Amino acid sequence: MKYIDLRSDTVTKPTEEMRRAMYEAEVGDDGYGEDPTVNLLEQKSAEILGKEAGLFLVSGTMGNQVALLSWTSPGEEVILEAESHMFYYEAGGISANGGVQPYLIPGEDGIMPIEKIEKAIRKKGRVFPKTSLIVLENTHNRAGGKVLSLDYMREVYNLSRKYDIPIHLDGARIFNASIYLKTPVKEIAKYADSIMFCLSKGLSCPMGSVLVGSREFIEKARKNRQRLGGGLRQAGVVASCGLIALEKMINRLEEDHIKAKNLYNFLKGMPIFDLKEPETNILKVKLKNNYNSTILLEKFKKYGLLATSFDETTLRFVTHKDVSFEDIDKACEIVEKVVKEDF
Ligand SMILES: Cc1ncc(COP(=O)(O)O)c(C=O)c1O
Repeated sequence: MKYIDLRSDTVTKPTEEMRRAMYEAEVGDDGYGEDPTVNLLEQKSAEILGKEAGLFLVSGTMGNQVALLSWTSPGEEVILEAESHMFYYEAGGISANGGVQPYLIPGEDGIMPIEKIEKAIRKKGRVFPKTSLIVLENTHNRAGGKVLSLDYMREVYNLSRKYDIPIHLDGARIFNASIYLKTPVKEIAKYADSIMFCLSKGLSCPMGSVLVGSREFIEKARKNRQRLGGGLRQAGVVASCGLIALEKMINRLEEDHIKAKNLYNFLKGMPIFDLKEPETNILKVKLKNNYNSTILLEKFKKYGLLATSFDETTLRFVTHKDVSFEDIDKACEIVEKVVKEDF
């Protein structure tokens, strides 16, 4: 059976052009700084995000973890939104790798109230850990692809300057935020000291993320990447896809947002669902009356639709390049059929 796969934008396959680029990529040993394609990707990424330097990594998780290691020391504290990817989905990496403790602030739609961030910043004193990093996530995965506004980013940034604490932005989907805000990605990135973005999600590369920041920060990050075993060799083979992504795959993200909106417009009419209009490509759907996401997902699958869940009462649908507008219409039909048949 051919499935309509709305589990994640990570399921996207590389384009024909990417596959050709992989074959033709000029490569060298990145351990010696000699892979021209990696070097170009790092340089272009930094340029687009308005930072001095970049570092290519195998995954977004590695990018976040390397950033954490580069900003903090064991025994310190990091402020994170309670449902952030770095806290929720990185296998306890912040404590296992960084030896830091999280200070979690539950956000509303992924947005931590500014006054709560300020309150969370530790005072100086013998008994307190040092607050050494604030982490933001834009767009916010578990908040359903929610975009942090520029005003909000600026407010957190101003606060961070007041207390001299760096900001790391988990920008796995920062280009989706930039499309939604109709703002160059630089304008978002200027309110963070380091930013990680993923090439392997809506941008459709087979793998890879880039961390950007100051030259000094990236030098440190390069060492921490090495420490985690993430040093690369002829990685130009995959970095070549990243170059195509930056040139050709960003503007089309708008289409993914429209697909998510189409899905929303259909599902909002169904009484078992409770949902907000998506801003980007992730649709979060709460189930009413004790409906169970695991059971629903199994039924969808029987008819050829794949999705996933945030928990037992919340579904997640993610739109991307490898589902067409017709697929979205079919997905709506499948959901309707399942709901009518069984509930
Ligand atoms: C917001 C966010 N940050 C980081 C990551 C980690 O990326 P990766 O799967 O490449 O490790 C993801 C992956 O889904 C994500 O959604």
